[in-house]
Amino acid sequence: TVLVVDFGAQYAQLIARRVREARVYSEIVPSTTPVAEILARRPAAIILSGGPSSVYEPGAPTLEREIFEAGVPVFGMCYGFQLMATALGGTVDNTGAREYGRTELTVSRPGSTLFEGTPAEQSVWMSHGDACSAAPEGFVVTASTDVVPVAAFEDDARRLYGVQYHPEVMHTVHGQQILEHFLYRGAGLEPTWTTSGVVEEQIALVRAQVGDRRAICGLSGGVDSAVAAALVQRAIGDRLTCVYVDHGLMRKGETEQVEKDFVAATGVKLKVVDASERFLAALEGVSDPEQKRKIIGREFIRVFEQAQAEIIAEAPGDQPVEFLVQGTLYPDVVESGGGTGTANIKSHHNVGGLPEDLQFQLVEPLRKLFKDEVRMVGQELGLPEEIVQRQPFPGPGLGIRIVGEVTRERLDLLREADAIAREELTAAGLDREIWQCPVVLLADVRSVGVQGDGRTYGHPVVLRPVSSEDAMTADWSRLPYDVLARISTRITNEVKDVNRVVLDVTSKPPGTIEWE
Ligand code: XMP
Repeated sequence: TVLVVDFGAQYAQLIARRVREARVYSEIVPSTTPVAEILARRPAAIILSGGPSSVYEPGAPTLEREIFEAGVPVFGMCYGFQLMATALGGTVDNTGAREYGRTELTVSRPGSTLFEGTPAEQSVWMSHGDACSAAPEGFVVTASTDVVPVAAFEDDARRLYGVQYHPEVMHTVHGQQILEHFLYRGAGLEPTWTTSGVVEEQIALVRAQVGDRRAICGLSGGVDSAVAAALVQRAIGDRLTCVYVDHGLMRKGETEQVEKDFVAATGVKLKVVDASERFLAALEGVSDPEQKRKIIGREFIRVFEQAQAEIIAEAPGDQPVEFLVQGTLYPDVVESGGGTGTANIKSHHNVGGLPEDLQFQLVEPLRKLFKDEVRMVGQELGLPEEIVQRQPFPGPGLGIRIVGEVTRERLDLLREADAIAREELTAAGLDREIWQCPVVLLADVRSVGVQGDGRTYGHPVVLRPVSSEDAMTADWSRLPYDVLARISTRITNEVKDVNRVVLDVTSKPPGTIEWE
């Protein structure tokens, strides 16, 4: 395992992903972890991430010097680089000379361990205020910029490496290559971490955990719960029952996708609960977004608990149902403080927040994986492309995409408009390019239009195409005009009562991705 020490900001997760893209397994540890504890995990290599602090700030995160003296290969990036420099006796000045964004790097040792085979001039992504002016003893300076005399250094004897910039970001042109050079050449690791290995390992772990007892899993229609269920099904077969609560707020074809395609691909035992009447009744007269979310979450739990009681009652003599399968991902684990075996179920859950007092042990076969890795596992398990490549969709569904009260008529209307938008985006080959494209019905707004020879007084729908890496921030997608035109023409022609299509051109922040 390669351990990525997290000095804050969002770099550590990106670094861990890049290491795994190099087929080497990696995990993140907070920078507050004692060095002895880090070393006790016997890491094959250590990477020190960037972070928002200055090494000179009082209270700035630091690491004991022993981390560089244990014989473990270390790669410092940005803040991690400066930390390595100061800890080992180099000089880091608060020069006031700042570098942000794209910077030209001049490589002075083109054959070095990190820079071998990369050009003498290369674009890198910088983000720092302090600068290293003298490398510690034993290090060779390998690159510089106009502003920073020491932008990279290496000590092959001690296997210590550092760069002032961020090799993990996309804008650093040879970043992945340099990271791989550290892993393969510097640390001598092999690219052996594979999806099929992950699947085998997790199947064995699930078998060991569940034994001959039973488990249930809530399916949301999303990628995570589908892949988690498929994996557990592989491990324990029919002793897993999946529950799919149809709240009536799904998009066109989604319930069928779970009922037919998912079952066909996995052979999973599925219980579908049609609860749309109940959800609609509970949502009657409600327009406030937070109210809607609470009601949907509450009803969901009730229906789920009822289904679970039925499953247990159906086979009382059987082995007990003690396990709940969840599609928790690694970023959730990192963000909630890491650690192992969380006892309680987190509230931000992709099936809409299950109660804290559920008496289950959790089975979380994806808790070490990033989203893109979950998709690869899904592929490996033979899940249909439509499920594996599915874009994010909120648990409360179309209920939070109708601004105003949720009614059956409005849902039907939005479902049609949404289906058209999705169809055209898919036909234009844009599914991978955009993160997701909510279609929102402004149910309480009407505007005047003209169609045929008559006046119309209908509702607008909003297209909200966004590009994003993690949904924390997003930008509006610059969709081609002809695709927008086709979507607009089709929606206004084919969906009754919609006479206007508008485009949301707000980034996040300040807007969120969803409208409610
Ligand atoms: P916002 O609107 O906060 O959305 O920018 C960020 C991402 O989260 C999705 N989303 C949800 N997902 N349950 C979910 O499982 C929810 O209640 C929920 N609300 C928003 C949203 O689609 C976007 O991808």
